[in-house]
Amino acid sequence: MTQKSPSPTVRHWQPWSDEVAERYAGKYGDHPTSALAVAAAALDGAEVVLDIGCGSGMAVRTAASNLSSGKAIGIDPAPAMVRIARQQSSTHIANARMQFAEGTAEDMPIDDASIDVAMAVCSLSHWFDIPRGLASVARVLRGDGRFIVVEDVFDDPDMGLGRQTIRTAIENAGFQVTGFTEQSHSEGIARIFTARLGTNQ
Ligand SMILES: C[S@@+](CC[C@H](N)C(=O)[O-])C[C@H]1O[C@@H](n2cnc3c(N)ncnc32)[C@H](O)[C@@H]1O
Repeated sequence: MTQKSPSPTVRHWQPWSDEVAERYAGKYGDHPTSALAVAAAALDGAEVVLDIGCGSGMAVRTAASNLSSGKAIGIDPAPAMVRIARQQSSTHIANARMQFAEGTAEDMPIDDASIDVAMAVCSLSHWFDIPRGLASVARVLRGDGRFIVVEDVFDDPDMGLGRQTIRTAIENAGFQVTGFTEQSHSEGIARIFTARLGTNQ
């Protein structure tokens, strides 16, 4: 990882406060979408995995448990989220394979072409500049890397992002969507996109 500091310059966007982060971690920290994302990633055990907007780190811990020689990195702009993720991971059996850092999708503190699998689990809809964040994902992914986007389906049309909106954003960033499913889980329904850098068909 490089040591760039997050530089969110867009007005009205702010990282979650300590209070919001702590409330989120207590209520949704073990949300089942993390397991769905890691299952969709179909890790071979030796990859470098990046979870963008990692929250309290559940997907990072799940990914690290599936690695034998790679590593799982979580970034999140909220300092309290990163602190909680580190705390909750500190006694985990795969802790040595985990790293956490502050950072936004738009300005990731991650080297170019260093990531095999990037994941955004219920975080894409929170990014302050989705095209810029997706360009950043394309920058950090290796040429044969894959990108997993998971978003919950909401009844309220004002919440979250629609299926076609997500797909178009991913494709406009130069990815080919190679898989899509809607999966029920214990707390609702999630949309899961798998994508690779390449030509859209
Ligand atoms: C709904 S939570 C999901 C957290 C975690 N992925 C999970 O599934 O539990 C959204 C997360 O996105 C993060 N986030 C907000 N803006 C972001 C940005 N610009 N780049 C990356 N992550 C962001 C928040 O700090 C928060 O942790």
